[in-house]
Amino acid sequence: MKILVTGGAGYIGSHTVVELIEAGYDVVVIDDYSNSNPSVLERVQKIVSQNDSADCGEISEIVEGDVCDYEAVKGIFDRHDIEAVIHFAGFKAVGESVEKPLMYYQNNLGATMNLIRVMEEAGVKRIIFSSSATVYGMNNEAPFDESMPTSCTNPYGWTKLMSEQILSDAAVADESFRPVLLRYFNPVGAHPSGLIGENPRGIPNNLMPYVQQVASGIREKLTVFGDDYDTPDGTGVRDYIHVVDLAKGHVKALEWSLKSDEQGCAVFNLGTGRGTSVVELVTAFAEINEVPVPYVIGPRRAGDIATCYADASRAEKVLGWKAEKNIEDMCRDAWRWETGREQ
Ligand code: UD1
Repeated sequence: MKILVTGGAGYIGSHTVVELIEAGYDVVVIDDYSNSNPSVLERVQKIVSQNDSADCGEISEIVEGDVCDYEAVKGIFDRHDIEAVIHFAGFKAVGESVEKPLMYYQNNLGATMNLIRVMEEAGVKRIIFSSSATVYGMNNEAPFDESMPTSCTNPYGWTKLMSEQILSDAAVADESFRPVLLRYFNPVGAHPSGLIGENPRGIPNNLMPYVQQVASGIREKLTVFGDDYDTPDGTGVRDYIHVVDLAKGHVKALEWSLKSDEQGCAVFNLGTGRGTSVVELVTAFAEINEVPVPYVIGPRRAGDIATCYADASRAEKVLGWKAEKNIEDMCRDAWRWETGREQ
């Protein structure tokens, strides 16, 4: 069975390609390498070649291209018998999206709409969409469950929420079209092989990659954004999830979608259901990896909420998926990747 993965060379995409292949699927990847590079897929090949199970799938084709490009996407469906799509490709930097909103709307919404159009022409009815817990906005109380009202505070978040809306409207118009929306909490860590992980360009926006760079001496210290939140130690609480658990969640969602006869759009949180504060995460990273991570307390970052963690029970009940890795695994694998890769 062949699956199209958009953004398959990216952080979550590459880990999902590994899990798909190990679960026996063949994969076609489209990526424009705007925030990744071709060597990621070579390393994906290396990981799966170390697995000698006869049931592994393979990468059938890698297309360097833009998901907004109709001809590029159409060509893939002409050349391959695609069963379903997993759609990761998109811009994801919150700050940049505030500065360049049109670029974000054009790229992220254009890609979603183009994919739906080509899928419709090709008669492909299953798509798993990479959404975010950012759609729960600032007015809900954790744990967040899928039925809570949604809203966003920045264009990046809106592109996720609007893509959800577009997919769900398309599912109303064609009841055989079955999107699955996966709302990720905070993906961190790396593949245990140390061969793939997150490789942000420039100064990292997110906590874990920043901590990794402080630990390895690339940056002098971490600034903790506020210690006066209404949380046990005053610092922000998030639901960190190991990227391999997250990737496995996609395989489960795909399997469920291929056999389910439930109509309409299905929504699942992918998180652990546990909250960890900034200081807890930094302390755990330093202890587990025996490396100092100096930090100072700074002001709050605009747009941050105090506490965000998932009610992850729906994914467990319906998909049979549950995160298995803990903070120790996340910190250890992140550090192995940070110290082992070519800089
Ligand atoms: C951020 C985005 C969110 C996006 C998600 C993707 C914002 C406001 N939110 O979520 O829309 O979906 O990334 O992964 O950008 N922190 C520090 N110092 C740092 C960096 C972060 O103290 O240098 C703190 C933050 O205040 C927060 C926690 O660490 O409490 C996690 O931050 P981050 O990794 O950026 O994730 P989110 O803010 O949850």
